[in-house]
Amino acid sequence: MNENKKLKEILRISSEFSNIKDIDILLERVLTEARSSVNADAGTIYTKEGDLLHFSHAQNDTLQKRLPKGEKLLYRNFSILIDEYSIAGYVASTGETLNIPDVGKISNECPYTFDPEFDKKADYKTVSMLAVPLRFETEDIIGVLQIINARDGKGNIIPFSEDDALFIRHFASTASIAMKNAKMTRALLLRMIHMAELRDPKETGAHVNRVAAYSVEIYERWAVEKGVDREEIDSNRDLLRMAAMLHDVGKIAISDTILKKPAKLTEEEFEVMKTHTTLGADLFIDKQSRFDEIASTIALSHHENWNGTGYPLHPKEKDISIFGRIVAVADVYDALSCKRVYKEAWKEEDVLAEIRKMSGVKFDPEVVDAFFKSLDIIRSISEKYPDKT
Ligand code: C2E
Ligand code: SIN
Ligand code: SIN
Ligand code: FE
Ligand code: FE
Repeated sequence: MNENKKLKEILRISSEFSNIKDIDILLERVLTEARSSVNADAGTIYTKEGDLLHFSHAQNDTLQKRLPKGEKLLYRNFSILIDEYSIAGYVASTGETLNIPDVGKISNECPYTFDPEFDKKADYKTVSMLAVPLRFETEDIIGVLQIINARDGKGNIIPFSEDDALFIRHFASTASIAMKNAKMTRALLLRMIHMAELRDPKETGAHVNRVAAYSVEIYERWAVEKGVDREEIDSNRDLLRMAAMLHDVGKIAISDTILKKPAKLTEEEFEVMKTHTTLGADLFIDKQSRFDEIASTIALSHHENWNGTGYPLHPKEKDISIFGRIVAVADVYDALSCKRVYKEAWKEEDVLAEIRKMSGVKFDPEVVDAFFKSLDIIRSISEKYPDKT
């Protein structure tokens, strides 16, 4: 790329990033754009959490091609120390860029080594690697962007050029601004939910993060199958990730005696509980943005049933918003899988049987179908956001 083209590319990317509000959706896009700008086969983003680097997002074209269409790669959650002995740790602790032509030939004089464990397990071969810090100018490091195996026009693996390294370093600094904003938005949403719903110092937002992340996966499956175009899917994923977190925000108005009752609710108590839907929807009454609209719709419709027996308004079938139909399945899956003040956790096979049984009754059969097709990734999300005990 010439200088002018590179500049235009950075401008295009930075305006695109600033449109993405959710941190997980943003990191996925950052990785996709970074890889495509230098034609890299794979990549990983580590985010800094306390003293550790957390393996946060990963992509790999070669491994992806081995999967059936529509399937996603699953990665284990893990963290590494921020020290000079791993490649990402070195970058995070020194702020340097590492451009390694061949990870199999790292000099003994370097403090860091390449960990071949992932390659072995995945039957993959990492050769060239470029790792840059995620930070804005001189501010603290918030993570590491690591891209793997540059390819020439014929698909042969080559080293990253010095130009690539400069470009990606600049790119990472651009992405970091949007990342800071998105992290702040997530933290604000969690704080709001914390105040609204639970009034319980033990609650860490795990339930809302799970329901929201499940909803995004179910939506993507459903939408791809429906032939919804990619741009609309991406934009909806971003809004849905945040709006689904707020599905129960109307519980702010429900008294603790009902909300925390360690037993079955009476009929009157349940009538009060049902108002969390309309109360939640009313919080977004001004509908200033598409986000407000989706958040309001989800709060209002996540307890409606496919056959018209839900609450509060009892629409049927496709008269219920698709986002409501999706959050309904995600919410019940999570409610049944976990312990609540009023119930024990169910065994997974019982949860799945219940969801299948409710297909076409309580739930949209197409959404249930998308849920089962996403089950592996849904299980990995539930590991990512465990309940604190
Ligand atoms: P939630 O705990 O998030 O549960 C969401 C939905 O999961 C429920 O919506 C219901 O459709 C499903 N669900 C949860 N537990 C069970 C179960 O044991 N069996 C079956 N078949 N489905 C279950 P629903 O019923 O409209 O309840 C909405 C909210 O009302 C619940 O949110 C919870 O906060 C509260 N709630 C419902 N029943 C009780 C209860 O008996 N005691 C207490 N303390 N709260 C309740
Ligand atoms: C919930 O899961 O919705 C409430 C209980 C909790 O998350 O600790
Ligand atoms: C999501 O939050 O968008 C899905 C789960 C993840 O990638 O963290
Ligand atoms: Fe609810
Ligand atoms: Fe819920």
